[in-house]
Amino acid sequence: MIIEPRIRGFICLTTHPKGCEQNVINQINYVKSKNNPSGTKKALIIGASTGFGLSSRITSAFGSGAATVGVYFEKPPAPGKPASAGWYNTAAFETQAHEAGLYAKSINGDAFSDEIKQKTIDLIKADLGQVDLVIYSLASPRRTNPKTGITHTSVLKPIGESFTNKTVDFHTGVVSEISINQATDEEIANTVAVMGGEDWQFWINDLKAAGVLADGALTIAYSYIGPSVTEKVYRKGTIGRAKDHLEATAKQISEQLKDINGKALVSVNKALVTQASSAIPVIPLYISLLYKIMKAEGTQEGCIEQIQRLFEQRLLTGGTIPTDAEGRVRVDDWEMNPEVQAQIAKLWPQATTETLPDLGDLKGYRTDFLNLFGFDVPGINYQEDVNEMVEIPGLV
Ligand code: NAD
Ligand code: NA
Repeated sequence: MIIEPRIRGFICLTTHPKGCEQNVINQINYVKSKNNPSGTKKALIIGASTGFGLSSRITSAFGSGAATVGVYFEKPPAPGKPASAGWYNTAAFETQAHEAGLYAKSINGDAFSDEIKQKTIDLIKADLGQVDLVIYSLASPRRTNPKTGITHTSVLKPIGESFTNKTVDFHTGVVSEISINQATDEEIANTVAVMGGEDWQFWINDLKAAGVLADGALTIAYSYIGPSVTEKVYRKGTIGRAKDHLEATAKQISEQLKDINGKALVSVNKALVTQASSAIPVIPLYISLLYKIMKAEGTQEGCIEQIQRLFEQRLLTGGTIPTDAEGRVRVDDWEMNPEVQAQIAKLWPQATTETLPDLGDLKGYRTDFLNLFGFDVPGINYQEDVNEMVEIPGLV
């Protein structure tokens, strides 16, 4: 079929298999072009099909030569209906990994469930014995807690008071004011239940009890802090509470893994265009200003540049892993550079529908958004007929 983007608000209803494949190949080539530390031999990546999780899988495999098990929740294709992007990304990754002689298998299903955790443990036991790295990179608007059966839905709201600020519709370029009411206590608790550390803790409990964590195993989850302009809706809002919980969970898991010389850490990553971040108010305006500044400075990074740097310069140096005062690994250092943030603070009040095309990088935002779904990728002929019925070679 010939596939064109069909955009509805914050999502694109279609995806392009060849564009997704090319994105993965580009990430693999980037990793191969760098100096990569060895260290990871067998990695489990939870949330392995898009964003930071996909880049973590690629860096483990093509940087360290690791065997990888990926867990994700993606929609398979049907005739005339393309799969979700993570499906095609995973198909491309596993094809490339197998060609390179690397073990790569995956499980498609709800990572929050006990069933998928058990399936993953069975696969690790049968094929790898143990894993030495566990990446936890889920982003989801809801979670069913397997112990209670309750389904929690997250919200993106401020806490304590309502909040008004500017945002941009990145499709139309229209800058407008939005107001968001403060979250209720129940909404805060539900957001923490979805995006906090409880499920990460459940995974580690089960993996450890099953004996599939190697001596010295490392587990990493991803967090975000960001600037003062987004603070009320992000770090001091409901999602920030969930990130506080995730960061506290890292400390708890580290205690729990002491007897096997293991460790849990949170890495604070930079703001990037993903499906999740596009839906957060104010963030798209911030990202479009940030991209312009960082590109001009030569410090702009995508998911793969962030994760390759995280592995090479933070996690796998062979020395002590550097952290901030709260024990977090930081690869948001270039974003949070005071000079970069001073420019954001100066540009923020000036940004309007008329000025933003000059002040910010709306074009780069839109390209990155389309790229998530395999569109607007250089070198792809979008007039060409493509097979949407792609299979994932390592799918269990
Ligand atoms: P993403 O949407 O690109 O990836 C989410 C992954 O989770 C996908 O592989 C998806 O299949 C999987 N997933 C979602 N629900 C699932 C379920 N129920 N079962 C199994 N798999 C499921 O998101 P991302 O932006 O890469 O986010 C990953 C982490 O990084 C999140 O914790 C996020 O908060 C954090 N982070 C994101 C940014 C950013 O700017 N995007 C910045 C810093 C940190
Ligand atoms: Na991810």
